[in-house]
Amino acid sequence: MADLVIQPSHGLRGTILLPGDKSLSHRAVLFSAIAEGDTIINGFLTGEDTQHTAKAVQALGIEVAGLGTERLVVHGKGLDGLSEPGEVLDLGNSGTGMRLLAGLLAGQNFFSVLSGDRYLRNRPMARIVQPLRQMGAFIDGRCGGKFAPLSIRGGGNAIRPIDYVSPVASAQVKSALLLAGLYANGTTSVREPSKSRDHTERMFRFFGLDVKEEGTTVTVRGRQRLRAKGPLDIPSDISSAAFFIVAASIVPGSEVTIQNVGVNPTRTGIVDVLLQMGGDISLHNRREQAGEPVADIRVRYCKLNAGRIEGAVIPRAIDEIPVLSVAASYAAGKTIIRDAAELRVKESDRISSMAVELRRMGVVVTELPDGMEITGRDVLDSAVCESHGDHRIAMSMAIAGLAARGDTVVRNTGWIDTSFPGFERILRRTAYSSS
Ligand code: S3P
Repeated sequence: MADLVIQPSHGLRGTILLPGDKSLSHRAVLFSAIAEGDTIINGFLTGEDTQHTAKAVQALGIEVAGLGTERLVVHGKGLDGLSEPGEVLDLGNSGTGMRLLAGLLAGQNFFSVLSGDRYLRNRPMARIVQPLRQMGAFIDGRCGGKFAPLSIRGGGNAIRPIDYVSPVASAQVKSALLLAGLYANGTTSVREPSKSRDHTERMFRFFGLDVKEEGTTVTVRGRQRLRAKGPLDIPSDISSAAFFIVAASIVPGSEVTIQNVGVNPTRTGIVDVLLQMGGDISLHNRREQAGEPVADIRVRYCKLNAGRIEGAVIPRAIDEIPVLSVAASYAAGKTIIRDAAELRVKESDRISSMAVELRRMGVVVTELPDGMEITGRDVLDSAVCESHGDHRIAMSMAIAGLAARGDTVVRNTGWIDTSFPGFERILRRTAYSSS
């Protein structure tokens, strides 16, 4: 796998257009498969994770044209149009792909098997297996269903609605149960400790479903039909934008505008945290696309102060904590991150991965069970860093290198392609254009 060598930047400049949102891309191809009619999806993420989901949809008997491009046409066959796959469905590195599909497959009347790479096979699956079993699906997996591979014999007509109180704020759990709930007679509710991203709820509405929300409880009536309408335009991923938002915030002389970014309030924790730390970030040209808020984001360099990152903002910034820990490394004072134990079960243990890597660059980091304490410095040391098999760790360390003293090497960066194809090209164009 390739290494990335990052030289110090003298300022990021220009207008940036990034790939499509990963969460929305997974949902778009899954939901249009069970909608009635053809859906055109524009801005589909061509990263490996979402390609795996699209291929799984094909293996379920749905025609998907344009695979490998940003424009897909999905020939949906309605709620009962999927057919038994003749092969194991391989979701690669993608937790979202596996958990959402498990929910969808729990409602079918056929057998399927889900697997993935060694990282995904070690991520917790009991959080979906247990409630899906309660709904009447027969699911098994390694260690009694704790880990993939998962085998699923769907409950079909016998699937039951559930009123589920989730112990974690997880959009993947919520979405899996709502998808299974579409196949049940009756209404399914999912209650969360705090609100996770609501893309499923919004996209269900886009396809004409009636979805109720009260506080952090979402309710959907079973056997509602999804109707294709289109096109479904996917904005750029704020989780990919996050790397450039932080980069421009920590490299003196920077000013960038990132165009057409999804700014769903359940995802914009990164902006709120950086504003609280003194960042110079503004949203322009706000609009709506397929039920999702979208804007252009302008970021200028500004010396950051330490912050407290905890509580309800955590699910709104969960995928951005690694790169926020880079921002904290360049901020004045000690940043405290709490309530983020979920980071330990992401593509890697992101608390320990970031602590190890930032220490290599001379940052003082204390690991907490559910977060970290980071004491910022003006300049970080250059170092040879590792990706830990995790796209967001690889990209975070590349961003840390932009404001370091010398060249930083990030090893095994091929993982970046799971979510952000073209990262290196866009970074080089933006970070070194003026030098
Ligand atoms: C996602 C939900 C989040 C997030 C992941 C994508 C989604 O995970 O970390 O990258 O698309 O639903 P959890 O639902 O496990 O918190």
